[in-house]
Amino acid sequence: MTFNAVNESILQNLTTIVGKQYVLFDVAAFEKYGHDETENLLFYPEVVVIPKTSQEIAEILKLCNKNNIPLTPRGAGTGLSGGALPVNKGVLLSMERFNSILEIDERNLQATVEPGVITQVFQEAVQEKGLFYPPDPASKGSCFIGGNLAENSGGPKAVKYGVTKDYVLNLEVVLPTGEIIWTGANVLKNSTGYNLTQLLIGSEGTLGIITKAVFRLIPYPPFNLLMLVPFFSAENACAAVSAIFRAGITPSGLEFIERDALLLGANYLNDESLKIPENIQAHLLIEVDGNNKEVLFNDCETIAKVLEEFNCDEILFAEDAAQKEKLWKIRRVIGEAVKSSSIYKEEDTVVPRAELPTLLKGVKKIGEKYGFKSVCYGHAGDGNLHINIIKDKMSDEDWNTKLTAGIRQLFELCVELKGTISGEHGIGFVQKKYMDITFSKTEIELQRNIKKLFDPKGILNPGKMF
Ligand code: LAC
Ligand code: ZN
Repeated sequence: MTFNAVNESILQNLTTIVGKQYVLFDVAAFEKYGHDETENLLFYPEVVVIPKTSQEIAEILKLCNKNNIPLTPRGAGTGLSGGALPVNKGVLLSMERFNSILEIDERNLQATVEPGVITQVFQEAVQEKGLFYPPDPASKGSCFIGGNLAENSGGPKAVKYGVTKDYVLNLEVVLPTGEIIWTGANVLKNSTGYNLTQLLIGSEGTLGIITKAVFRLIPYPPFNLLMLVPFFSAENACAAVSAIFRAGITPSGLEFIERDALLLGANYLNDESLKIPENIQAHLLIEVDGNNKEVLFNDCETIAKVLEEFNCDEILFAEDAAQKEKLWKIRRVIGEAVKSSSIYKEEDTVVPRAELPTLLKGVKKIGEKYGFKSVCYGHAGDGNLHINIIKDKMSDEDWNTKLTAGIRQLFELCVELKGTISGEHGIGFVQKKYMDITFSKTEIELQRNIKKLFDPKGILNPGKMF
């Protein structure tokens, strides 16, 4: 693909479309908009454009399409696979001014939202009305709904409530060629034509730019209980996960946290309240929620009985809302904590949940073979394990040359176990070289053809996914 550079006349046109103050091309802007949270990657765009309306985006895309200029859409830049990086330069389109909750429809339990709304802001707005929007990625306090849609984000609540895609009814999308479409209807059932809504979700900004989303909401469950369960063996902790469901309980959070992950998270927050004995290798953080406290106590008893069989140590029950929040905060901060402690790569593997112990064992074995350490944690109830590969004592040369083969082996193991290479972070820029592990040539070709149909000139978020 050969693209053209952004010249004076393009800048002039962009300025006419969005106004001078929303066209940035100074180094400070390039620094700010050239990275996300993926490792330490940084790519300067040629210009940053910050539109306000779908019509403006349509004009910008028509301009880029006509002139063969790459355009990369960006939410809050919290992504972990490099999906928002302008790797081919061109226009960086920031969605930050699309920051309105347009409607909360209490009659139908729906909401219409612009993609630049922060996920937690949206959650709190609907909660005020007794409603619940469950998807809660660790970055919920800063990430945008649009990024969640682009990556089909999950988070701890997904185990009971599902991921972003499970709440989307309809999307307004600007196509790379500049047309504006709606993908569905504001209804709970829809068997009308192909499911364009679900095709757009998780398409990582490669098929169109989402400018409005209609979500379904559910009633807010008023009660929850949270427990932190220590295990002497990390594999046993993983094995306990599927047993909980087999005992008839679906927790609203079921997180696996390896020893080092918990220590890093607590240290990062300067929290010394958790005393973790030397012989504890991992924890499960388990939440149940619902409408009836008695039922939740019974659920916890059932869970505790199951866990005993896996040789757990004494269970800590969070006493109050503050302690619950503290434990969740430690959990949420682990990604950032690992990042600040070492050079690392984060993988987002996912397997059928009963295969988790096999995956964990395999990760450690592959680590020994290639000389890397790993810190693992994640959404065990979904079989979704975040594997942080730590550079630690690995030489620069080994890190740069051998690691790819190690990661490949790790992903091959996931696929052997009937899993895949990303559960919620997406493929983006950094995982695209591994797509052949999970898809056949025919399957990749089919996806490439879909991309071509939407974006014949390949201007929208090029260099991602394939
Ligand atoms: C988490 C992010 C990294 O679960 O997905 O913390
Ligand atoms: Zn996660």
